[in-house]
Amino acid sequence: MIVIASHNGAIGIQESMYVLQQGGTAVDAVEAGIRLVEANPDEHTVGYSGYPNLLGEVELDASIMNGRTLESGSVGAMKGYPYAISIARKVMEILPHVMLVAEGAERFAAEMGFKKQDLLTEEARAVWARRLQQDMPAHIFDHLQEQTELRHWVRLASDPERAKGTVNFIAQDAHGDIACGVSTSGWVWKYPGRLGDSAIIGAGNYADNRYGAAACTGMGEMAIRGATAHSIVFYMKMGLSLQEAGKRAMEDLNDLDGRFLSMMRIIALDSNGKHAGFSSSEGHTYIFQTGDMSTPDEAARIVVPIQTRWE
Ligand code: GLY
Repeated sequence: MIVIASHNGAIGIQESMYVLQQGGTAVDAVEAGIRLVEANPDEHTVGYSGYPNLLGEVELDASIMNGRTLESGSVGAMKGYPYAISIARKVMEILPHVMLVAEGAERFAAEMGFKKQDLLTEEARAVWARRLQQDMPAHIFDHLQEQTELRHWVRLASDPERAKGTVNFIAQDAHGDIACGVSTSGWVWKYPGRLGDSAIIGAGNYADNRYGAAACTGMGEMAIRGATAHSIVFYMKMGLSLQEAGKRAMEDLNDLDGRFLSMMRIIALDSNGKHAGFSSSEGHTYIFQTGDMSTPDEAARIVVPIQTRWE
């Protein structure tokens, strides 16, 4: 049994392992771990207290994938419900669909009995307002909802250093089944309705018991363009080791042409429980806990540089 997670999953990884130790499935473990991150008011890139979009609205993306069946569920651009991962799981388990977005996801969350909640905290609102007011004249900031040229202000969201943050969890249970979950509030100050890789199976999240799983944090648009999580699993299917597969998928991102290339981080697990992390820059770690460990440990991510190409 093993759980691996992005660094900000520290608050949830022990609960996730506890679920496995109690006989829970990999899907149960991934959901349990991510819920604690989604509820954490100090985590501004996921769930409650996530940083908002350009209009000051918190929009969440999340997905979950069962590597045994390849069943998947996701929600995107969803407002008002903090436990996006649990709603994604309900999509997977109740509906014949894989993805619900915006009002449809919110409607389904209400139908499933999830509690509606204001996700924007004072602290997150203050950071948003301060950043926008630095560049935006007051007559625009005070009437954001009525703006017909909002696209011009997306440049405020296009700060490659700020446009990041997501939680990844991958678990393998006592039966050897693998599941992968991802949850985020997405790019800070993004254009309303922007959907990132976290909601897209194959981009930010992929799991297949036969080969392994991978999950991404970073510039979601890159992972969408590169189908990154699926690529890693596919490279393993083609016979590459976990490390070779991760490096190759990162190199694919560096090979992308065009603009808006920045940072990427990936965690990945193979079907034998071997794990690895990858990062486009130095100094980043991920965490892991096996069934015989009482606390999680940290491991360095393998660095595969991606040249920033922005405007
Ligand atoms: N990777 C998270 C996002 O781009 O929304």
